[in-house]
Amino acid sequence: MKLIWFGHSCFLLDGSKKILIDPFVPEGTIDVEPDIVAVTHGHADHLGATVSLGKKTVAVNEIAKYVSQTGIPTEPMNIGGTITVDGVVFTMTPALHSSWLEVEGAGFYGGVAAGFVIAMDGVKVYHAGDTALFSDMQLIRDLYRPDVALLPVGGRYTMGPDEAMIAAQYIGAKLVIPMHYGTFPTIVQDVQPFKHAVERTTPIRVEILAPGESIDLSL
Ligand code: NI
Ligand code: MN
Repeated sequence: MKLIWFGHSCFLLDGSKKILIDPFVPEGTIDVEPDIVAVTHGHADHLGATVSLGKKTVAVNEIAKYVSQTGIPTEPMNIGGTITVDGVVFTMTPALHSSWLEVEGAGFYGGVAAGFVIAMDGVKVYHAGDTALFSDMQLIRDLYRPDVALLPVGGRYTMGPDEAMIAAQYIGAKLVIPMHYGTFPTIVQDVQPFKHAVERTTPIRVEILAPGESIDLSL
């Protein structure tokens, strides 16, 4: 399986299926035809192009309801649940964050914010969504043993690099990829010290990707 980071929290898992997570990029469009779109929460920088992509969408009940009203097939789920869609296993994990759906300036309830552990082709990827550090990340390690963790490090709206260092240790994935930083002036971070600190003190590898860059996750 290959993983591509388009920037912000948007990743493509490119394996036996193409799974696009949080389809928002700050500039331009996401030039890919996914089989499934997974959305962590309703904020515009995550829901992004979900409706215009028009592909089968996995999301928490409230977002799935909103998306399905536009005629798009959905797979609603909620925190703690696991479903299999076209052979790909999605587990919805908690995230310490807020959520709402912004429609033409107004906002309405978007359910709770979430993350996902996605298992495909023998590789398990944990996308944390937008979240603070929480100690139950250790349960995500114990229950799902993710191989890769995609962690927000931008601060202000999510945890920053210091908290993400603890998160990386709680989750125990061999590979960590930082996300949700640098997109806006309010979440600028130098992620090199984070990489150095994690790699100096743990066996965990941190890969800093450039937008559009991919990495092979085949084990
Ligand atoms: Ni958010
Ligand atoms: Mn966000």
